[in-house]
Amino acid sequence: MLNIAVLVSGGGTNLQAIIDQVEDGRLPDVKICAVISNNAGAFALERAKKHGIPACCISPKNYETRAAFNKALVGALDEISPDLIVLAGFLVVIPPEMVEKYEGRIINIHPSLIPSFCGTGYYGLKVHEAALKRGVKISGATVHIVDSGTDTGPILIQKAVEVKEDDTPEVLQRRIMEEAEWKILPQAIGMFAEAKKKGEL
Ligand code: GAR
Repeated sequence: MLNIAVLVSGGGTNLQAIIDQVEDGRLPDVKICAVISNNAGAFALERAKKHGIPACCISPKNYETRAAFNKALVGALDEISPDLIVLAGFLVVIPPEMVEKYEGRIINIHPSLIPSFCGTGYYGLKVHEAALKRGVKISGATVHIVDSGTDTGPILIQKAVEVKEDDTPEVLQRRIMEEAEWKILPQAIGMFAEAKKKGEL
């Protein structure tokens, strides 16, 4: 069994895609052990609770220093001791000590074809606004392993999605989620589950 912790900030549609595949048997060897949000109001927390998954909020706002927040987040993860940490729309810079400790075992979904429209400042709708502004005809999503940079780690899976003439950032975001993100994020988790089965993790 691959034990995963999913880190979220918002709506949690990527989390939902993972939950759905675990529940309908498409990810048979995966257990979502915990969902952690930096945002107490994130709908993702409701999704987790609805499916009986332990969920909590760890927000930088509740700590006096960034170091204290980092310690709390890493401490919570250490208690869960996950095989894999999945950043599913987690919009907080993650602690360097977390990257070090869980090297090669943290993955992130980014809503563009890296190296386009990624790095500092490119998150959520901003990515799609930039893509439309540049006039690209193809965008997509990327799952990559997290390293110490922002969106710089090794790429695991990418999926291209067509940009249409009348797209707004919201319309493009939704198409990229439906056609790419909700497929390739569970797919990447499945790759880790296979690796664990083979004793490679
Ligand atoms: C997703 O589009 C995800 O790719 C993006 O935030 C959204 C979260 O949606 N992540 C980033 O921009 C990371 N740089 P969700 O909460 O509905 O899964």
